[in-house]
Amino acid sequence: MSTPTSIRRFDAPSAIVHGGGSRQRLPEIAKELGGTRVLLVTDPGMIVLGVAEQIRELLTSAGLAVATFDDVQPDPTDVNVAAGVEALQAHRADLVVAVGGGSPIDAAKVIALRTANPGPLADYMGLHRIKNAGLPLIAVPTTAGTGSEATKVAVITNTARDVKMMMLSTPLMPRVAIADYELTMSMPKPLTAAVGVDTLTHGIEAYVSKQANALTDPLALECISLCARNLQTAWQSPDDRAAREGMMLAATLGGLAFCNSSVCLVHGMSRPLGVAFHIPHGLSNAVLLPTVTRFSVEAAPARYATVARTIGCALQSDSDTTANAVLIDWLEALNRSLELPRLADCRGVARTRFDEMLNKMASDALASGSPGNNPRVPTADEIVELYKQAW
Ligand SMILES: [Fe+2]
Repeated sequence: MSTPTSIRRFDAPSAIVHGGGSRQRLPEIAKELGGTRVLLVTDPGMIVLGVAEQIRELLTSAGLAVATFDDVQPDPTDVNVAAGVEALQAHRADLVVAVGGGSPIDAAKVIALRTANPGPLADYMGLHRIKNAGLPLIAVPTTAGTGSEATKVAVITNTARDVKMMMLSTPLMPRVAIADYELTMSMPKPLTAAVGVDTLTHGIEAYVSKQANALTDPLALECISLCARNLQTAWQSPDDRAAREGMMLAATLGGLAFCNSSVCLVHGMSRPLGVAFHIPHGLSNAVLLPTVTRFSVEAAPARYATVARTIGCALQSDSDTTANAVLIDWLEALNRSLELPRLADCRGVARTRFDEMLNKMASDALASGSPGNNPRVPTADEIVELYKQAW
């Protein structure tokens, strides 16, 4: 008789279309999904860059009726979602297409299922609280990235409580992800750096998580490997197509891995930091990743050593202890090489306010549940200490 193991479920989009120029497939996929009236959810940045118009034209020239909703701010809020639902109903949309970074994609996920799941949005915070499927969603990411195109996760800010609500439920998974790295070629260097380290964090956290499993491990390790091989090149040479393609692939694989395993303490601490000081998600992860890794390695030395060997900063012959030490140095050096600031140097973060916020940030981090999946589960006091160390 085989050894009993826990039951694992793996959710993914029903199709992932990857590669340069893959956005051209959007109209045929929209029609495959039965779409005739599309709500295009995007943000003002995508309007300015002309990307939203390019996507709208692709859809309209194929005979689809498109309404554009672009009132989505970075770190989207419940107010953005409510406005999007109004736009969706006014247009009588039967399909949602999200174009942009993690913010418009996350907002679109919630907008698409809101009519089938009414009631206070705060009720859907947490794990598996959303029961009903909404309208089909096609996610077209323009950063690499949050991996949101391939996750059943959305993070929406609750404006009344000033807290980021993490929602993880199967109906949040986009039906189709179209990941066209050509859309990432114009990302400015600071954005490439921040979202790239976010991607790397997804791979590492998915792999060291207490929820890691045989379905997610290969994806997490490939995500880590792709980041190690491509992130610095994509940052240094923004026109390098192979590096951009590698990072887009890493982002999608990282998303699939972490949403079926979990993120851990870095993300748990990063969300309250982002809310308190309006630090973009990727950057708030990057400033925490080395410090949290140093705290966590002792609880999963073999796993972190595999991360180091996958990156290539440690040799196969190195002991786990050596590999772990090298990994922390490498992560710190990566941030420096990408010119990512330390927390103290992030715009808008004053030390007095930071000190005032420490206890609230620590309790919000714990309440999110993510630290509970970390190999070493911290107390609130330890989280406060880690924030201070990251300063
Ligand atoms: Fe993330």
